Amino acid sequence: MTLALIVGVFTLASFVGANRRPLSEVPSPGELAELRKLYTGAPATWARPRLRPGAKFTEMAPLRLHPRPQGNDLDRARLGGELFNDPRLSASGHFACQSCHNRRLGWGDGLPVSFGHGRAEGKRNAPSLFTAGYQSALFWDGRAPTLEQQALGPLTDGREMANGELTGVADRINAIENYRQRFAALTGRDTIELQDITAALAAFERTLERATRFDRFAAGDRKALTDEEVWGLHLFRTKAGCANCHNGPLFSDGGAHNIGLSYFGRALEDLGRYGVTGKPEDAGRFRTPSLRHLSETQPYMHNGVFPTLPGVVRFYEGGGGRVRDDRKDAQRPALFEAARRKSSLLQPFTLMPAERAALVAFLRTL
Ligand code: HEC
Ligand code: HEC
Repeated sequence: MTLALIVGVFTLASFVGANRRPLSEVPSPGELAELRKLYTGAPATWARPRLRPGAKFTEMAPLRLHPRPQGNDLDRARLGGELFNDPRLSASGHFACQSCHNRRLGWGDGLPVSFGHGRAEGKRNAPSLFTAGYQSALFWDGRAPTLEQQALGPLTDGREMANGELTGVADRINAIENYRQRFAALTGRDTIELQDITAALAAFERTLERATRFDRFAAGDRKALTDEEVWGLHLFRTKAGCANCHNGPLFSDGGAHNIGLSYFGRALEDLGRYGVTGKPEDAGRFRTPSLRHLSETQPYMHNGVFPTLPGVVRFYEGGGGRVRDDRKDAQRPALFEAARRKSSLLQPFTLMPAERAALVAFLRTL
């Protein structure tokens, strides 16, 4: 018994000091079983995450889903779902929300960056909306605090739905008898206001989230993840350092970080949060996105530069992106310095091919 315990601890120690393992080695079934033991209890008892100074860590957990709407709330969500699919919300009559947030494409559009009104190419990737009803900061730069406010963004954005005057939206929807009657039944008012429309869209969006395989695992269903996926979970929390920023039930610390994707001084330049706050230190920072439903939401990052998850992992192995010295801009020295300064929570690391595959397998359970 004591011997078994010592051997067990020794095996675990070899995982913790994983860098010293011979390069070709993949854990044996026995070792994988030992590793799994670290993850049998509730998340609070799992192997401690390897965190760097300044990390804001909340333990992983299954996401508690909003209760299914009932009564008036259900009617509002249904109206929202119809509006979401209705191109009459856009000035041209050609774009619905679902043109860029398609159910079959993980509620995104599958493109690196979205096309909108007049086929103008936007600057950013259409995020998946599965988790939108659970986030405290929306958009890649976190500029909208609520779904209701967020919906005003695409409605007015010249590249998205191009309603220069928002009154036009409510007027068009008021002209549709079916909508007018059903909204009147909810609001007791004769005319539909813009906020009725945004409230309905938001109510619909709050119904999109689904339980994942990881949720079931974290809630105690140990069979929900394979041994390889548990290995990937361990790497996510330890050697790969992902849990420094992607943690809690949403796999986001709710913050904004610079991981080197600002493309400073290049055609794709996007300074992220700086555009919201105007503070130079925010140049290059983007909201930590949720990682839920990743297997359906490619391509990845605010500008969709990575078509696959192994590509994302290799990017992190190299310590993230970088702004080259020759992009120095005499007009914008403070922004250049900030864009170049990546988060100290990001550090390069090396994975064996089998480890990379395990980490990717884990990401696909989220
Ligand atoms: C032309 C494509 C397009 C259309 C049409 C469109 N969106 Fe989006 N949506 C985007 C893009 C691109 C972003 C990210 C923009 C950014 O971060 O600056 C986005 C972001 C969002 C977000 C934030 C998600 C998050 O995780 O931060 C929500 C919610 C959303 N859209 C809902 C809607 C709704 C509701 C409509 C219809 C009223 C709509 N969108 C219409 C492309 C579109
Ligand atoms: C310093 C904080 C930080 C660390 C550490 C970190 N990330 Fe991220 N992650 C971010 C931020 C910020 C973004 C958004 C960046 C952007 O779009 O420009 C992001 C984006 C992503 C995306 C794209 C999500 C989408 O919807 O497009 C994936 C996938 C991802 N991270 C996985 C990982 C993995 C795997 C690790 C560990 C190897 C990791 N991250 C480590 C902060 C971090």
